[in-house]
Amino acid sequence: MEPQAPPRSLAAYREAVASLPFGKVLPTAVYVLDLPESPVPENLRTIANRLRERLQLGPEFNLLKWGTLELKLSFLAYPTFEDEAHPALKEAVSIDLASGSVRRVSYADRVNPPILHRKETFLPEGHPDHVRYRKLTEAEEAAGLYEETATIGFRRNWENLLRSKRVAIQGHRLVPLAEEDPEDQKAINLAAVKIERHRTALSRAGLSMPVRTLLDNGILRQIDTFFDYGCGLGDDVASLQVLGYRASGWDPHYAPAELKRESEIVNLGFVLNVIEDPAERVEVLVDAWSHARRVLAVSTLVAGRENYSHADAFEDGLVTVRNTFQKHFEPGELAGLIEHALHAEAIPVELGLCYVFREIGDQQDFLSRRTRRVIDWEQIHQRLRLLKPTRVRLSLYDRHLELLEDFWKTLVDLGRLPRPEEYERIEELREARITANQAARLFVEKYGEEPLSEARQRRREDLLVYLAAGEFQKRRTPFVRLSNSLRLDIKAFFGHYAGACDEARELLFASGDSDEIEAAITDLEFGWFDASQGHFTIHRSLIDSLPAILRIYIECAAQLYGDPRQADLIKLHVYSGKLTFLHFDDFDGKTLPELVTRVKIDLRRLFVLVVDHSDGETHQILFFKERFLPADYPGRESIEQYSKRLRKLGINESMLGPNDQGAPSREEFESALEQVGLTRGLARKPKTR
Ligand SMILES: C[S@@+](CC[C@H](N)C(=O)[O-])C[C@H]1O[C@@H](n2cnc3c(N)ncnc32)[C@H](O)[C@@H]1O
Repeated sequence: MEPQAPPRSLAAYREAVASLPFGKVLPTAVYVLDLPESPVPENLRTIANRLRERLQLGPEFNLLKWGTLELKLSFLAYPTFEDEAHPALKEAVSIDLASGSVRRVSYADRVNPPILHRKETFLPEGHPDHVRYRKLTEAEEAAGLYEETATIGFRRNWENLLRSKRVAIQGHRLVPLAEEDPEDQKAINLAAVKIERHRTALSRAGLSMPVRTLLDNGILRQIDTFFDYGCGLGDDVASLQVLGYRASGWDPHYAPAELKRESEIVNLGFVLNVIEDPAERVEVLVDAWSHARRVLAVSTLVAGRENYSHADAFEDGLVTVRNTFQKHFEPGELAGLIEHALHAEAIPVELGLCYVFREIGDQQDFLSRRTRRVIDWEQIHQRLRLLKPTRVRLSLYDRHLELLEDFWKTLVDLGRLPRPEEYERIEELREARITANQAARLFVEKYGEEPLSEARQRRREDLLVYLAAGEFQKRRTPFVRLSNSLRLDIKAFFGHYAGACDEARELLFASGDSDEIEAAITDLEFGWFDASQGHFTIHRSLIDSLPAILRIYIECAAQLYGDPRQADLIKLHVYSGKLTFLHFDDFDGKTLPELVTRVKIDLRRLFVLVVDHSDGETHQILFFKERFLPADYPGRESIEQYSKRLRKLGINESMLGPNDQGAPSREEFESALEQVGLTRGLARKPKTR
């Protein structure tokens, strides 16, 4: 039988993963044992087989982890899967199916490797080992070993728990713990070594690197709360407070009396590397994450930068002459620890620094701000060679594969040929005797004309939006004052500057014409149009999907307001030349988010009105928030389910009235629920006596 083609869209991929008939389902992935005869959808098997072949991954990579939120597949090697009740991970190879990047991490020497539980869940039901594994799980459940699961995914943490419950595992059986356990002695020895962790804290003259990146990347905003977990002497907190941020911190030595506060942004800065007990590292990481509403920034020292005159090896790190412990994390080690401990993706930001996002939408926003590239599934296939390339001069291509792919990335980023000064590896290309033109021709031969013309079109449109916003401000930067690469862009896409500005001005006029705006909105398949008010509202993640004239409309308001992506919803007032940015309390996290601030901008009068809704007598909540969201918004299904239940209770969209003014306030809604005995989640309240 012909192997089935891999899924061609993200939706088809998700559907295929969702249709896996067995496997352990965790928040971000489904894990399955890769058995040749197991009923895995054929198109997923095709992806896995081709990647196995390409990356030369043998059968020792026996578990597959299919990302459910991200296009990500990991091959995991658990060599003792059959023999050990809780086998440890030896190696992981993760492939980002979107970018094609591959990360390979070895866990072979880890003192506290990730381990598996509930092994039967990785197998199809009729598998011969299913019953044996399930029986062990049932015994473990009965012994209370799964009551608190946040840290049991690591060997040391699991062993600590077994000891505390006075049980042990022999083969696939749970047995009472023998009285004398040498492991107990080991734990006592560890406690006897008095490491003086607090002596690692430094007095800082400026902000620490992780906190600086949070500001530079626009992650930490004035409206956010910030919590420094393990804040040391507290210099980051103090500096942020001076800058007007709502910052607080806690440290077991320097600030033990402070509260550990749940905050939008939590920083765990250079704390994990001073903790000598690997099991405690996991606990601290999990605890810090539980306080982060939006982003956790985790930083550690990195291997290769050790600089001690004398230090002794201890556990998986070093004890210095000052009696402090330091662990220098290998590349990929921190990300691996985060991903296994938190079941969330770790986004590497700098060496030794990862961000973890609560919402995948936020993570995507962050990533798309860093690169302008739009991911195209067809290209992904090509990059992964899941489809056969078209005619390619194989010899040249194969010899310089990595270099060419790197050049093509720049080519697609810019939408045009880079100038020598715009491409850092130009010398390598020269040495390989490949001209930029030749490299571009090879790209077209391999992928066809389309990806490049799309990239050109996208960059051209981005430039028009940028120029139109300048025209709106009546500020046209003289051509010679533009950056070199902007000048090159303008020449490549428009020929000359005056022509580009004229085109931008025309679009600017169009964006001030309500008929044009109305026509542009009519064509869209997303967003919420309130016909009675002439309001069109979208979630911020949809800005880039708008046509140029609507982006210009928003960009003009942004000149008076700042980054529109800081708002949760953007409301275009189609007929009056106004725009409102709406901020909610945890819009992405809550099904019924509460309105906090409304910023209304009058583009004709250049007037900005800010209204604070947070401390009124009643609070406005947003019903049916799916109206504004993209189709692939994470968690959309559960939002829709909630709305369905609301409708059953007699609350529907038509009752909200113009501008949602007829919607009940939080207080009214809660009291109505109280009367019918429902919780805010619309579940029946337990009866109290
Ligand atoms: C190298 S300092 C970093 C301080 C601060 N985050 C900075 O970047 O300047 C490490 C800090 O971690 C703290 N620490 C030690 N064990 C901790 C734990 N279990 N939880 C939180 N912080 C801890 C120490 O007291 C010390 O202040």
